[in-house]
Amino acid sequence: MKIGMLTSGGDCQGLNAALRGVAKALYNGLGNKVRLYGIRDGYRGLIEGDYHEMCERDFSDILTVGGTILGTSRQPFKEMRKAEGDSEETRLEKMLKTIKTAGFDCLVILGGNGTHKTANLLAQHGVNVVTLPKTIDNDLWGTEVTFGFQSAVDIATTVIDSIHSTAFSHSRVFIVEVMGHKAGWLTLYAGIASGADIIVIPEIPYSIKAIAQAIEKREKSGKRFSILAVAEGAISKEEAEMSKKERKALREQLPYPSVSYRIADELKALTGQEIRVTIPGHYQRGGAPCPADRLLTSRLGAAAAELIRDGRFGNMVAVQNNRIVPVPLSEVAGKLKTVPPDSDIVQAARDLGLSMGD
Ligand code: F6P
Repeated sequence: MKIGMLTSGGDCQGLNAALRGVAKALYNGLGNKVRLYGIRDGYRGLIEGDYHEMCERDFSDILTVGGTILGTSRQPFKEMRKAEGDSEETRLEKMLKTIKTAGFDCLVILGGNGTHKTANLLAQHGVNVVTLPKTIDNDLWGTEVTFGFQSAVDIATTVIDSIHSTAFSHSRVFIVEVMGHKAGWLTLYAGIASGADIIVIPEIPYSIKAIAQAIEKREKSGKRFSILAVAEGAISKEEAEMSKKERKALREQLPYPSVSYRIADELKALTGQEIRVTIPGHYQRGGAPCPADRLLTSRLGAAAAELIRDGRFGNMVAVQNNRIVPVPLSEVAGKLKTVPPDSDIVQAARDLGLSMGD
């Protein structure tokens, strides 16, 4: 059985651990009946026929290694049906050709939202596909948790933990901008875990006045500092009323490199406080997976291998009620799992006295 493996989209902790999990379980279950191939840089390698045969040794000692040994790239789903350059062929046709030429019986695809749309497209064109849910954003439909998320929560939490001492010493307001354009899971979890005072996520549009009031309330009660965890995709209540195009045009006119700097400026004007912005950025995606992600990727890898052995293709391995289950790709593709504003975790944050910026 010839199996091609690829990692696609933004990298994160646990990609190598997941590749290792799948490979170990396949070699263990199928022995020398299995031949594994690494496809380089995600769908780019599939489009360009860039792949190489791998052996058991390639998957040793990578459990704790960050990034992906296969490389990755972002290949937008909307480009897949377009012909490229002088070529008559679309990217989809090129991928199907590579799969046929290589003689792959199955593809193992590790990725997030965009990746799953293309994986589903391949499945619709008769390719045997099994996928694993990867992203620090935790915004993939059909699974309670994606790998990479818990490691990123650890990092963002550590950053906010460390900011506390400087915020206290200088009596300052600090904004820590956490990754997540569309979904606020990472900001919400890290914000609660680190004891942030105000949490701003894309799903709950913020009012700058409400944030200023929350800061003033803390000041009046004798608190020396306030810490805001702000998702990079945070939007104001006014922006929430606009179309995506209008919002983009507004943002382009503003002089701020990101939403946190805008919030900082507006809060300075309203509160007169000294405000600093910290952006951990891609640091949140790097380094070794935390133990929870090592465990998760190992379980997901073993489950993916079992699906392949049983010929149950067209599925993503997912976590539901702390069990690993297959979920059809057609149910996952194109859907985003965002934070429900009325979820118990948001309510818990409010019950603890945190402001959600609204
Ligand atoms: O999807 C993961 C993620 O890290 C998001 O949180 C972030 O908005 C985006 O990727 C950044 O993308 P890039 O690495 O391409 O700049």
